[in-house]
Amino acid sequence: MSPTNPRILPYGEAAIAEAAALIRSGDCVAVPTETVYGLAADATDSQAVARIYQAKGRPSFNPLIVHVPDLEAAEIIAVFDDAARRLAERFWPGPLTLVLPVRREAGISSLVTAGLETIAIRVPDHRAMQALLDASGVPLAAPSANASGGISPTRAAHVAASLAGRIPLVIDDGPTSAGIESTIVRGREILRPGPLTWADLFPGEGRGTVTMQPETGPRPSPGNKEGITAPGQLDSHYAPGKPLRLHATIRQDGEWLIGFGAVPGDDTLSIRGDLVEAAANLFDALHRADASEAVAIAVAPVPETGIGVAINDRLKRAAFPR
Ligand code: TXA
Ligand code: MG
Repeated sequence: MSPTNPRILPYGEAAIAEAAALIRSGDCVAVPTETVYGLAADATDSQAVARIYQAKGRPSFNPLIVHVPDLEAAEIIAVFDDAARRLAERFWPGPLTLVLPVRREAGISSLVTAGLETIAIRVPDHRAMQALLDASGVPLAAPSANASGGISPTRAAHVAASLAGRIPLVIDDGPTSAGIESTIVRGREILRPGPLTWADLFPGEGRGTVTMQPETGPRPSPGNKEGITAPGQLDSHYAPGKPLRLHATIRQDGEWLIGFGAVPGDDTLSIRGDLVEAAANLFDALHRADASEAVAIAVAPVPETGIGVAINDRLKRAAFPR
């Protein structure tokens, strides 16, 4: 990708058509929502989702929010109870993200949910994101369109500066209206404060609890689970039911070896040694290893570069003694 990327196109038919073509080809594009600019990719395509992590340089597979056009589309992907449906009917489209049990059969990549049984989902209230959902015809995973650790983007120029050379296209539709990320709700808990407050969401129900955001909460450790809302923050999460050995170059007795590049295995993250492909395969490979007859799992070394850092972060957590 050329260092002059990304191109910035003003919102309109041509920009949406080009963005939708990129989405369908497995790439990611930046698009405004009413909260912040998001970096969107096809949520059903693991390699496309892996590209989001790679472009952001995100150091771990924190689960992503999936964007859909309406409640009907959301019900295909997540299981709604009456309370969740009432919130959705009242606040969608809008800056409300609901964490709900995921329907695996809907085909959302396990990289989006980071292997969790729940999914974060919302219906955005923005013409550009809605037009892109319509034109691409797939649910879109989209975190904020900034390099990991940077400030969330509320203008196309913020995105271009933060992700220069890493993404092909930004759709520019001016500054976003909310400017902070959506409120994330699970049951009666706010996992991330946002544009919608407790009083908006649960009027007449006291002050409620706002659980600390995983990114800003106390540093998690096995003995300190306070403030942790996304289980991905726990040292030992994503752990398979079997012991996991890292940096393995040969299979030992009773092991299922997950290979990479020159190290062949029972299964492989990427024969070509491609880190994006490896990231896309990671959770599926761990599931297959767990379901196998083997009593232990070994994983070949993965280079600590680019998205390999995220892969190794997840592998270290999976191997953490419980
Ligand atoms: O406003 C927004 O929500 C923006 C725009 C682009 O829509 N998106 C956004 O996505 O902020 P992201 O990926 O930066 O934030 C996702 C947050 C993380 O804090 C993550 O831990 C949490 O959602 N999350 C995602 N899935 C979850 C789950 N299943 N359970 C708990 N937390 C979850
Ligand atoms: Mg973010």
